[in-house]
Amino acid sequence: MNSGGYRLRYLIVYGPTQEPLDPVRYLTNRSTGTMGRLLADAAEKRGHKVTRVECPTHVRTARELLKKLQGLIGQQDVLIMAAAVCDVRPAAYTGSKIKKSQLSVVKFVKNPDILKELSIKKSKSQIFVGFALESIKLYQGAHNKLRSKKLDLIVAQKVSKNIDPFGNKPLDALLITATGHRQAHPRISKASLAQIVIRKSESLALENPSENA
Ligand code: CTP
Repeated sequence: MNSGGYRLRYLIVYGPTQEPLDPVRYLTNRSTGTMGRLLADAAEKRGHKVTRVECPTHVRTARELLKKLQGLIGQQDVLIMAAAVCDVRPAAYTGSKIKKSQLSVVKFVKNPDILKELSIKKSKSQIFVGFALESIKLYQGAHNKLRSKKLDLIVAQKVSKNIDPFGNKPLDALLITATGHRQAHPRISKASLAQIVIRKSESLALENPSENA
């Protein structure tokens, strides 16, 4: 426990970004934000100081989210990035409603990869946790994300026509750490998974050579 009365500082980001095309239409990702809320609740119960960033309530687009997190990340010990970030956005925003007769083709451009951008200035004492949704090659896909985004821990889940991980229902999760440790959690509730992720990230932060608490 430090002088502020908390153990670690957690930044927990969740929910879907929205990428507007015009004042009435936008592109988004599927996400209810359930996992993020449960993670934030679990971290608070463990005595951590939690900053919640919920999309699209607090921040709407991927670019706005990146800016917001760049302003917050310096004061955090652990980042948990559970947001469903749209990888692309409409190439142009039109300030007035586009007539449907003009809507046959919409051009998209890439959004920034938020974790990759934040990892550039990641300090040795910080722990980054990400999520991965994969339809094929669960371990390989998640492990590639763990490495390319400089994560310490990734929570991998399958998604397909028959596997729907959205909302508050049990799921199959695979936890992979940067040190190569993997742990499967079949048919686990999101609340239990949230507790496991918080405890795991907590121990990674506390066993880090630079002190946090
Ligand atoms: N993420 C991010 N910025 C993006 C997209 C994703 O920071 N533009 C984060 C997510 O919040 C998640 C992790 O990266 O923690 C993996 O997200 P996922 O959607 O599984 O993978 P992508 O990086 O988007 O790759 P792909 O779409 O090829 O699976």
